[in-house]
Amino acid sequence: MIDHFSIAAPVYDRVLGPPDTRRILRLLRLPARGMLLDAGGGTGRVSGHLQGRVGGIVVTDLSRPMLEKARRKGLTAVSAPAECLPFPDGSFDRIIIVDALHHFRCQHGAIAEMSRVLKPGGRLLVEEPDLRRMSVRAVALAERLLRMDSRFYPPDAIVGMMRQSGMSASVAATDIFRAWITGDKPGQPGSEAYRRQV
Ligand SMILES: C[S@@+](CC[C@H](N)C(=O)[O-])C[C@H]1O[C@@H](n2cnc3c(N)ncnc32)[C@H](O)[C@@H]1O
Repeated sequence: MIDHFSIAAPVYDRVLGPPDTRRILRLLRLPARGMLLDAGGGTGRVSGHLQGRVGGIVVTDLSRPMLEKARRKGLTAVSAPAECLPFPDGSFDRIIIVDALHHFRCQHGAIAEMSRVLKPGGRLLVEEPDLRRMSVRAVALAERLLRMDSRFYPPDAIVGMMRQSGMSASVAATDIFRAWITGDKPGQPGSEAYRRQV
């Protein structure tokens, strides 16, 4: 099987360009204390821009060359599949999955795993190409031709996966190509996060 991302790692950040940091900060409700997980975070192209806005950042990915780039940005880089993370329950206050969910082997399993490692009261933000757009369907076809084994889901289906995993979820924003979906894990009764919910 072709390891597309390890091949692309040397030029990845230059080709993709910087993220929409302002939007991500707003949707993630940053700055905040605590730990942020960037799952399928690759080179840390996105979370590298969030340094100083959270207590700490961990990038997980399967591609070692991508993770090596993240490490050079001062991020903690861990080789691990999104579907089975080597962290205890409730380890993270915030989680992002940017442009990566459709590359994971099991999208439902990965979202359930994010819910497990998210702290009560924590937030998951997924940014994905919006499959309702024709342009995204063309990308999905191109990725199939490139044998990338991608599986795209429309935003509502991602909302459904988050709800099945016990989060309250909604489509928080869209543009002409992408959708941002947020999932909030219920806080523990009596906690500040719980009081904000009720
Ligand atoms: C399109 S890149 C996005 C990287 C980063 N989130 C960004 O926006 O720059 C997708 C990443 O998902 C990673 N990936 C694919 N399958 C994975 C899995 N099952 N678990 C963790 N990472 C995975 C790839 O190695 C790749 O780095």
